[in-house]
Amino acid sequence: MTSSSKICRLGILISGRGSNMSALADAVRSGRIPGAEISIVISDRREAAGLSHARQLGIETIVIERGSRPREEHDREIVGALKERRIDLVCLAGYMRLLSRHFIEAYRGRILNIHPSLLPAFPGLDAQRQALEHGAKWSGCTVHLVDETLDGGPIIGQRSAPVLEDDTEETLSARILEQEHQLYPEAVALIVSGKYEVVGRRVLIRR
Ligand code: GRF
Repeated sequence: MTSSSKICRLGILISGRGSNMSALADAVRSGRIPGAEISIVISDRREAAGLSHARQLGIETIVIERGSRPREEHDREIVGALKERRIDLVCLAGYMRLLSRHFIEAYRGRILNIHPSLLPAFPGLDAQRQALEHGAKWSGCTVHLVDETLDGGPIIGQRSAPVLEDDTEETLSARILEQEHQLYPEAVALIVSGKYEVVGRRVLIRR
């Protein structure tokens, strides 16, 4: 975001377990994402296990459920909560909803997502199952900027993992998840450093 001394305030959105959120929190605490702090964790599900982890880490959490509202109304409340806390960068970490145009426009270029495949292969749900069913020999994970497309925004970073012959969806997911926990902090650190530029679909690192 910036290479100046201003702290970059991160907002993390989760729906479930929150292991990527914890990996980001670890990385911030251990100085691997210089200049960043996690200012809020928002979940759209009250029962998300990641909420209690975040609270244990001393991070403010809020639950904003969608209920029967239209997507945009739900997103307006989330964007309001993010703006109120002056969030600079939004990290989706197992957040199981598509974002409305309103949300994307409010934070254009400042929303990241992690996806458990080497995009553009296997976008959408159950990416690890898709990789297995397709017979891919390698899969992995991708951190990308979020735009209006499904898992289709410019790619910030990727890490690979082999698909083994005796893999189940669970074993492959666990192997990819280890890579996710390395990749997401590295990708967030790059964006926070501001040492990159987006040229068309390409995210180029500026040295
Ligand atoms: C991860 O596999 C992530 O790539 C995907 O959802 C999963 C979330 O896991 N978007 P966690 O909640 O971070 O543990």
